[in-house]
Amino acid sequence: MLVFATETSCDETSICIMEDRKIVEHLIFSQEIHNKHGGVVPELASREHLIKLQDMSEKLLSNSNIQPKNIDVFAATCGPGLIGSLLVGSTFTKSLAINYNKPFIAINHLEGHVKSTSFNNNIKYPQLVLLLTGGHTQMYLMNEETNIELLGESMDDALGEAFDKIAKMLGLNYPGGPEIEKLAKYGDENYFDLPKPLINDSNCNFSFSGIKTYINLLIKKNKLEDKFIKNLSASFQKTISEIIIHKLLKGIEKLNDDYISIKSISIVGGVANNEYIKKKLENIFDSKKIDLYYPLKEMKNDNAAMIAWVCMQNYKTGDNDILFKPNPRMSILKNK
Ligand code: KG4
Ligand code: ZN
Repeated sequence: MLVFATETSCDETSICIMEDRKIVEHLIFSQEIHNKHGGVVPELASREHLIKLQDMSEKLLSNSNIQPKNIDVFAATCGPGLIGSLLVGSTFTKSLAINYNKPFIAINHLEGHVKSTSFNNNIKYPQLVLLLTGGHTQMYLMNEETNIELLGESMDDALGEAFDKIAKMLGLNYPGGPEIEKLAKYGDENYFDLPKPLINDSNCNFSFSGIKTYINLLIKKNKLEDKFIKNLSASFQKTISEIIIHKLLKGIEKLNDDYISIKSISIVGGVANNEYIKKKLENIFDSKKIDLYYPLKEMKNDNAAMIAWVCMQNYKTGDNDILFKPNPRMSILKNK
């Protein structure tokens, strides 16, 4: 089966052609226009998608030597995300589907991230999925391939958002995650003792805004010197990995009480790029004989390959979501 998928929920314009379990062609354009604003400006994001989508599609089709009439299904991210951006991508993709008289399938962006690791791993269930993006921090239980249950989530900022906001306070570029990771390598991770909100609660929820406030106070009391920025970046990253490990262990323990024995953990979304956090997780879970899965590099940040992959699994002959309205708050949970 040949799938043509687009992803435009935020500030990445991405298109993919997938054939069964093979990425035929995949393009990702990260909009740089937001960098000077220190965060995504929704209106600018929609305009950039509009400018890029058609040229990128033509390039994708000519690179792959595939005629659009040979595509079996067209799919697009329809939520959650920025409504203007979702509208640009889904309307463009629906037009192609109508033009070539093929079905259109609406895909949930979060489902794309959550299922991204099943593309390159044979998942052992039950598994925990930790979704760490710029907009979401959520822990899910998947008993099987199609069953997704929310165990906990951030009560305030998403983890990627916390990286971005702290980077901005430190005068670093957007996106902040990679910047903080780079500088943290040269800092003393034990220099600052940062708070770990909700660490003593018996649930799987997270909170990061308290750390942000604490760091803001530290910045006011200190000079923004190179050494200070490096030590703070390192201490923040260490604190974050301790919180993540603690909450994953809490989730495993709680499920164990319900006779559910976790066999694997998937770390998905942009923060999954962080190699420091990955090493810390490997140190803990390798010894516990719990498999740790990561997506392919090109399926960590926002991308259309994960959207094509979900379409490949969800599409049943005859489905057509051509009338589906993009939904900025679309839920991944079936009963919501
Ligand atoms: O999944 P993603 O590309 O987009 C959303 O769906 O939000 O995630 C983007 C987030 C940004 O907040 C970015 O700072 C963070 O992922 N990120 C990282 C790293 N690379 C990207 N955070 C920590 N360490 C990294 N190396
Ligand atoms: Zn995302």
